[in-house]
Order: sequence, then structure tokens, then C-alpha cells
Amino acid sequence: MSKQRVLTGITTTGTPHLGNYVGAIRPAIEASRDSNNESFYFLADYHALIKCQDPAAVHQSTKEIAATWLALGLDTDNAVFYRQSDIREIPELTWMLNCVCAKGLMNRAHAYKGAVDANIAEGEDGDKAITMGLFSYPVLMAADILMFGAHKVPVGKDQIQHVEMARDMAQRFNHIYGKKEPLLILPNFQVDDNVAVLQGLDGRKMSKSYGNTIPLFLAEKPLKKHINKIKTNLLEPGQAKDPDTSTVFQIWQAFATPEQTAEMRQAFADGIGWGDAKGKLFELINAEVCEARERYEDLMARPADIEAELQKGAIKARAVAAPLLEKIRESVGIFGLA
Ligand code: TRP
Repeated sequence: MSKQRVLTGITTTGTPHLGNYVGAIRPAIEASRDSNNESFYFLADYHALIKCQDPAAVHQSTKEIAATWLALGLDTDNAVFYRQSDIREIPELTWMLNCVCAKGLMNRAHAYKGAVDANIAEGEDGDKAITMGLFSYPVLMAADILMFGAHKVPVGKDQIQHVEMARDMAQRFNHIYGKKEPLLILPNFQVDDNVAVLQGLDGRKMSKSYGNTIPLFLAEKPLKKHINKIKTNLLEPGQAKDPDTSTVFQIWQAFATPEQTAEMRQAFADGIGWGDAKGKLFELINAEVCEARERYEDLMARPADIEAELQKGAIKARAVAAPLLEKIRESVGIFGLA
């Protein structure tokens, strides 16, 4: 069987938190160790510009996310790890796709539609504060995917529509320009139902936009503090507690072995106190992240080493992108005259 090319992007806004780790980073690093896969993971910094116009924040987040993946043991000899903006071929393909992508398809993109609906609900012009970047976000994302002939794109549920749109654009492009040979591979989204969507401090999905996150590489003290802030009910030690409605238990489960999960379930039934349960949760998380945290601190102090990894990745990524883009240019009629 030929290798499956797995590709995913991480938008460089914000600091990685436990939800990112459990839901995306940990499974991606595991998948990159599977020799049936060829993994392409990248920092989507062009996408960051759509959401964030604070240059220092975009830059800092890029550094933090890159250092996080490296500290957690991503093997960059095996996986191709790069920064979107280092791949000149991506914006060029974006334009080619813009020219085959129906505007009506973009009108249906939920991120854009959601923004328009929110404007209208507030009695504003539907287009208020909506940039062309937001509107055509799925075209850039399609170029990210199609540029590398990805077969599988692991994403959260909110991104499924974007992968389907990439598939649509690839089909359309192949239909118009790929008569001799299909140029673009049709990608499939991959949503892993076994991966936990972690709850945040307030019990809602852990997300930067809710301000309820626990950053992944907090030092021990602040990590403990954050864990102590997880919302619980008022049951006293000695009173039985329901694990299945508890955020403490939900996060426990994401880090524990099945045996440890069974033990904690029993401890809840036996009336473990919240302070106790949170103390144990801290120990569990800290044990899993402490070595990586040291490597992270170390890398953050040596940004040139992070940069060197990204440059190594860019060379590998462009070795795939450049020849395909050459073919694409030719197929649309853009090539030398002689
Ligand atoms: N839009 C994705 C997100 O916000 C990030 C992303 C950009 C991406 N390009 C991609 C994911 C290509 C998968 C494939 O989560």
C-alpha cells in the first residue's frame, strides 16, 4: 500500500493549552510515528492574520506553537514540519483556486455566515468588519491541503466543511484543467471520535475564545492554581460525586490509563473531596508534561534552533510543492513562450 499523506495546520494565535494538546497535538505526534503515514504539519500563520492584527502576538504564538510541537517530541526527520508563509507556492495556488472557486460556495462557509448573521442580529450592515481574508479563508486552506496532495486531513468538527470545500475546488480544477491527468488529489477529512474534546475551567469546551483554558506548559505553581479553579459543585468530602458530570473527572480521563480512570471513578463514588481530586489531577498532568516543559523552556530560549527546524521543514515541503505548482501553472497556460 502506498503511504497515506496526512496533513494538518495549526493557526498561530494564542498559547497552546491542554485542550489543544489532548485534541490535536498528542494524536498528531502519535500518527507521525506510524510508518504508513507521511505527516505534514504546519504553522498556519497566514490564517492567523485573518483573526489577529497584532504582529507581536502572531509572532509570539508562532514561536510558542513551534516550540511546543518540538518539545513534545515531534520527529522532524519523519514528519515535515513547516511554516505556511515559508512556502511561496501556497499563495500562488491560492490564486489559481480563487479563479475556479464559485463565490456562492464561499457564501455558504459557516465562519463567514456566522459573522454576517451576528452583524445582522445586532442591526448592523452584514458586511461590517468582514475582510476578504475571512470570506476567502477556505480557499487558502484548500491551497494548504491540495499543494501537498494530502489524502487525510485530521481536523476538529468545525473544520469539516472547509475540507469538503477543498475537495470541491480540487474537483472543479481537475474538471477544467486536468483532462490529461488529474492534478489535484481529493482530500478526506478525518475526525477522531476517540479523541476527547476537553472541558475548560467553567465546564464549557476548553477554548481561548471562552477564556477558560489551562495553558499546557505552565510552571508547576500556576498549573496547580489553574487546576484548583476548575468549577465543581458544593458536595463535601465523604459525599458521593458523579464523575460523568465532572470536569475534574473528564480531564482526568484524558490523561489517565484505563486502570487509573476506574480507580478515580471508584474514588468519586467513595466521596473523594474536590481538593483531593484536584491535587491528584495536578500530579497526573504534571507527570505527563514535566519533561516536555523543560525542553520547551529550553527551546524558547534558543529561537534560532526552532527557526532552523522550520527551515529544514520548508526545504522538504517546497520539494513537494514546487514541482506540482510547475505542472499546475502549465495546465492553466502560464509558462514560458519559447
Ligand atoms: N483552519 C484550521 C483551524 O483553524 C487551520 C488550518 C489552516 C488547517 N490550514 C489548514 C487545518 C489545512 C487543516 C488543513 O483549525
